[in-house]
Amino acid sequence: MRGVWERAASEDPYFAVLSDPDKRGGGWDPEAFFRSGAQEVATVLAYVEGLGVPILHDSAALDFGCGLGRLTVPLARRFSRAVGVDVSTSMVARATELHGPSARVEFRQNVREDLRIFEDGEFGFVYSNIVLQHLPPRLARRYVEEFVRVTRTGGMVVFQLPDSYREGVAARLRTMLRVRTRLRSLLGRPARTSSDHVEWEMHGTPEPEVRQWLAGVNVSVRDVTLTNATDPAFNGELRYLANPPFQGWVSKQYCIVVD
Ligand SMILES: C[S@@+](CC[C@H](N)C(=O)[O-])C[C@H]1O[C@@H](n2cnc3c(N)ncnc32)[C@H](O)[C@@H]1O
Repeated sequence: MRGVWERAASEDPYFAVLSDPDKRGGGWDPEAFFRSGAQEVATVLAYVEGLGVPILHDSAALDFGCGLGRLTVPLARRFSRAVGVDVSTSMVARATELHGPSARVEFRQNVREDLRIFEDGEFGFVYSNIVLQHLPPRLARRYVEEFVRVTRTGGMVVFQLPDSYREGVAARLRTMLRVRTRLRSLLGRPARTSSDHVEWEMHGTPEPEVRQWLAGVNVSVRDVTLTNATDPAFNGELRYLANPPFQGWVSKQYCIVVD
């Protein structure tokens, strides 16, 4: 997957981060893009404050899968400093170029399947949105365990992960069409190809399984809630949902506190 991110980041990094179909082909206004990050961080912090969990504002924050630093920079304003970590060389280079070197914001590349580049308990807040959904569950679990390790006691980890996929009428129709395509190929006729735009790999893990992962580490699960982050037109305006969507990926945000 690293190669996919590198290619996407060098072609259109804004669209690689927020793939709102309306913004394809350089359509993102950088100002609107970064404004969405400030809004998202404000929304998330207001939400977790509402849960009555103290936020350790005097500690450092980690933004896992930081992309262009859309969330890292606003996190740095709310915590003593923020570190954005990303697997992609180009994303880290662009983020550093865009935001410049500063005592409060740092971008680091990490290609390891763990977060050994960080010490135990180095952060008081870890946040990750629209990242783990692109990783195989085995790896997502490994990183979630690492989020806990790098968070100090009393600190908070907030991460997003899809729970399941709901097949709607349109999806069922597509399945039928795929059957037709297979029949065409069996009959020796060429299959119809779809457009060549990047389709990100998506993975989900049901909430009971995620809770099992979390039962194996020293944390209290404070809240699990539905969000709009897997909406195909997600443009960075994070919203909490009362009900799952009728079709498509069901996105959940987990808020855990390290014991
Ligand atoms: C859809 S973007 C989201 C960026 C950022 N979280 C935001 O919302 O603005 C996903 C980012 O995750 C990064 N990523 C993917 N796999 C990763 C991994 N194993 N470790 C760190 N970053 C990763 C990609 O390079 C990309 O920048």
